[in-house]
Amino acid sequence: MFPSSDEIRAALHEHLAWWGLRKFTTDHDYFAWQQQQFSPDNLKQLASCAERKRVGDRRDEIAFYDVAAHPTIFPVLYSQQYDYYEAIAPWMAVQCGAAKQILDFGCGLGILTSFCARLFPEKSFVGVDRSLASIAVAQKQADRLGLRNLRFDCVDGEVQPLSGCYDLAVATHALFQAEHDPGLPSRSWRTFERGNDPTLQAAFEQRTGLGRRLDNLVDVLSSEGRVMVCEKSRQLARRVPFQRALAARGLQLIEPPIPVQYHTVEELVEDGPCYRLQRRSQENVIWDESPEPDEDRPFAPEAIAISSDAEHPLYENHRPSAQTAWEQLMGRDVLAETTRGEPDGRQVHVERGRFPGFQYLYCANTFDQRQLVIVEQAQAGILETYYREILCEIAS
Ligand SMILES: C[S@@+](CC[C@H](N)C(=O)[O-])C[C@H]1O[C@@H](n2cnc3c(N)ncnc32)[C@H](O)[C@@H]1O
Repeated sequence: MFPSSDEIRAALHEHLAWWGLRKFTTDHDYFAWQQQQFSPDNLKQLASCAERKRVGDRRDEIAFYDVAAHPTIFPVLYSQQYDYYEAIAPWMAVQCGAAKQILDFGCGLGILTSFCARLFPEKSFVGVDRSLASIAVAQKQADRLGLRNLRFDCVDGEVQPLSGCYDLAVATHALFQAEHDPGLPSRSWRTFERGNDPTLQAAFEQRTGLGRRLDNLVDVLSSEGRVMVCEKSRQLARRVPFQRALAARGLQLIEPPIPVQYHTVEELVEDGPCYRLQRRSQENVIWDESPEPDEDRPFAPEAIAISSDAEHPLYENHRPSAQTAWEQLMGRDVLAETTRGEPDGRQVHVERGRFPGFQYLYCANTFDQRQLVIVEQAQAGILETYYREILCEIAS
């Protein structure tokens, strides 16, 4: 019988405790514990590896995960991810419940893999990762847990083919890390739409390593195999080419993607959504390439009233819906505008203008940033200064 969500949650807490992970509700408590556990050398080494991973190549990334796998480091470091495991593990359990042979691509220490292998002893699990130290820890822990339905392989799924055949492949934060990559710009600052240029898509898949990882993953998927992926793909400029890469490999959505949100010690993380996909799916779920809805910022021109508060604009919107609001400004008269383009397709537009009784400033770029500020006529000077500041920023 499939475990209930309460049973999954209880089993997960027990599992994470077994791994030595702790849940913290305040940053203060976490960092106090971290200070007791880590030596100054540990902290220095981790910080320098993290920085090299941020700016470096695959060797730097592997080196970071090798260091992170050290037994004195991983319980503390991965306790930061406690909420993340709580968010992801139940979805992964549901997907595994419907499969027999499961691949966890980029499994790291196998914290999630071993959790699911414990929940479903009758199913068979393989975890692959390119960090040798992570795989060594993963295998040792699986042995300690007596898991005979789970094995690990050290494979770089970007440069080596995978082996086996799976009816479910899971990849969480492993296919599309490349966090510095801005993604694919929109066709112009006026729209959120991306064109359909295969050269740009291919370049994106190549420089992020996503294309080769996905090709290798799909190669070991059975003809109606399922995939669960959850990556750093929240920004539209990254989400669109990520989704296109999935679709181009014959993966179709089984259900609408679910937004993922969790706390790490220092921040609330809103990740790319969790996708449940299948080859030859019977469902007809449409890929969504529009910005995330932001119903909290509706625009009603009649709601803009003269305010006695000279400090604050009458209306300010930094979300995608600022574009619709700007389009709705009746009788718009542009006083100054600049559009700058870069050879790589980046483009930014800044515009200052007026409409009856008011002044506005609008800024839009091809990476989906939008900004509309409306002030009373008498506050026009604020927008002039702001306009000049933005021009200086985009010139530098
Ligand atoms: C952020 S960790 C995620 C670990 C685990 N999936 C989770 O969700 O907790 C990313 C892992 O993906 C692995 N990885 C990244 N690219 C990989 C590749 N091309 N082949 C195999 N593993 C890879 C890294 O070594 C690292 O252990």
